[in-house]
Amino acid sequence: MKAPHMTRVALSPRRGSDATAPSLRQAAWSAALISLVVAGATTAGLAHAEVTPNLEAAKAKVAMCIGCHGIPGYQASFPEVHKVPMISGQNAKYIVASLVAYQKGERKHPTMKGIAAPLSEQDMADIGAYYEAHGKGLPPRPAQASAPSAAVQALLGKGNCAACHGEGLNKPIDASYPKLAGQHADYLYVALKAYQIEHNPQVGRSNAIMAGQARMFKPEELKLLAKYVASLPGDLQTVPQQRFR
Ligand code: HEC
Ligand code: HEC
Repeated sequence: MKAPHMTRVALSPRRGSDATAPSLRQAAWSAALISLVVAGATTAGLAHAEVTPNLEAAKAKVAMCIGCHGIPGYQASFPEVHKVPMISGQNAKYIVASLVAYQKGERKHPTMKGIAAPLSEQDMADIGAYYEAHGKGLPPRPAQASAPSAAVQALLGKGNCAACHGEGLNKPIDASYPKLAGQHADYLYVALKAYQIEHNPQVGRSNAIMAGQARMFKPEELKLLAKYVASLPGDLQTVPQQRFR
């Protein structure tokens, strides 16, 4: 059982970034170099190939994700302390889209960039399908939702969040858009702020739709939105897992 120790390490406020970042960054570097070398040979052939997700193959591919996404309450400390997002129960297409965004640098989070760098189209499809199915049939998280305050209603209306993120912010109108309901409030806040940030090599997300959204709000308004969205019942889960089995 390594989990409690890892959690304590990650919680330490003195760490400059994710506890595992240096070794991951190193691994990502060599992986990136390798993919640079083979890129010319493979991308032309694979770019438009049909990719069929393979749930069996996914099991080995998610082994390295579990150390963060499979531990309830696991915290990252970059760019500020927040819980690692829940991805079990998320849409497969959105998981793939966000991994592509880290790989291309449209999302700048250094750890996730390093993790996404070596993934192939097939890897991402396998991982997306795995996490979409993961946690189905588990008892739902206890709902905390109460009716939104007038202030929250006004913010939700101003951003028209449900027009894209769907009913209860849990049924996006397009599978490449995320489910938000019940996601960790501190993560939602960090994510929303990231869409406001430009020209920073370490922090920021360049998605144009959400940049337009996030820039309409002040930090305290984003915090209010994040807190409300996190209280909603939804499909997202953190499913505890053994690292190896
Ligand atoms: C060292 C901890 C760590 C590991 C290991 C890790 N992640 Fe992450 N992951 C994070 C953090 C922190 C974020 C939030 C990044 C941000 O703010 O953009 C994240 C974000 C994500 C997101 C975006 C979620 C969303 O709602 O937009 C996906 C998808 C994801 N990770 C998948 C994976 C997969 C797949 C693996 C394994 C191949 C993995 N992660 C391994 C820490 C980790
Ligand atoms: C026009 C469609 C649209 C509207 C309106 C919209 N969103 Fe989004 N939202 C998206 C898309 C697309 C993404 C994925 C962006 C990416 O790839 O980073 C997203 C991503 C997000 C994320 C990041 C989720 C994660 O897991 O990292 C949050 C948080 C979010 N939206 C909150 C909101 C809130 C709150 C509102 C209302 C104030 C809103 N959105 C309105 C389309 C929309």
